[in-house]
Amino acid sequence: MITRVHGGKTPPGITLDFSTPINPLGALEAIHKLVEEAVRLRIYTKYPDYEYQELRQTIASFYGIDKDRVIPLNGAAEGISLAIACLKPDALVVFEPTFGDYRQEAQALGIPIISISYIERVDEYELNIYGAEEISKAVRNLKALVLLSNPNNPTGCYSELRLLKHLAEIFENSAVLIDEAFIELCNECESALSLVKDYENVAVLRSLTKTFSVPGLRIGFLYLDNKKVYEVLEACRQPWNINSLTSFVFSRALTEYASELRKFVEDSRRVIAEERSFLTKSFRELGIEVYRSRAPFILVRHKRFTSRQVNEALTRFGIVVRDASTFTYLTPYHARVSVRLREDNQRLIEAYRVLGIE
Ligand SMILES: Cc1ncc(COP(=O)(O)O)c(C=O)c1O
Repeated sequence: MITRVHGGKTPPGITLDFSTPINPLGALEAIHKLVEEAVRLRIYTKYPDYEYQELRQTIASFYGIDKDRVIPLNGAAEGISLAIACLKPDALVVFEPTFGDYRQEAQALGIPIISISYIERVDEYELNIYGAEEISKAVRNLKALVLLSNPNNPTGCYSELRLLKHLAEIFENSAVLIDEAFIELCNECESALSLVKDYENVAVLRSLTKTFSVPGLRIGFLYLDNKKVYEVLEACRQPWNINSLTSFVFSRALTEYASELRKFVEDSRRVIAEERSFLTKSFRELGIEVYRSRAPFILVRHKRFTSRQVNEALTRFGIVVRDASTFTYLTPYHARVSVRLREDNQRLIEAYRVLGIE
């Protein structure tokens, strides 16, 4: 039986998917063109370079980081599996509610999970630093892996760099993996990529899938300075983890279209911030609780309707949101709503209004 739960698996008849957390601007024309070129050249009939030398270099140049510390990935999802399966930690420390795959993969491998709950304030979640300090003492003599999503899925809360430095220090004997799948879509968020050189125990995970809206191509990378860990992960990675088509497209896109891509990321952040404000305000006017978010989605809590009932009702309008009850510590009334473009967002709010969803 398949036990994973993710957004983006839209039931028949759904035309407006608010369950997938991704850049709502969609993929750039430059990416479409490169995919077409790759197909025309039948790139897929060749093995990709298993060392991904060119791809590593282009990722490094685009993000201003060191090529020899980059591990290219088949989406950020692969980095989570690699870290958990290949580092074989004695325990996985997670801050929840968060992305379910952390827990799912540890459970599948029989790795004990230590869950630290985020602190829920009136309208936002906050990293529980005191809880983290207590747990860090308890795992001091273990080989633990600390995994944190920033900004966090599904709460949308962002933990500042000073807090991440503090985590790296208190968990000095553990590996600390910071999953920044959504950071490029977060306005005024600082990336932890800069921490890697000063903190040997820190690794950063990034998703180009989310940023450039190509979930079907799948691409991401890990960035870390610890040579021993780097070698373990590199040796454990599947040799051809990124298909030749994706490798071709991104090696070219990140160099030839670098300035266009940078502008796209900037525009995306601005649009997402505006649309998130629109959705937040509109939901609050409907009496629905909304948590403050820095991500391309918001977490809401309905008053009278469970998210399952909300989705049943929204089907009439061809709309689906993510029932967030599967996330640890959340309730049947929580839902994660992806930020889309204005016309779609207005349709969602209108549907809520007509259906009287509270
Ligand atoms: C926190 C987090 N990390 C990683 C991923 C996977 O990203 P990718 O599609 O790049 O594999 C997701 C997908 O939703 C996510 O929410």
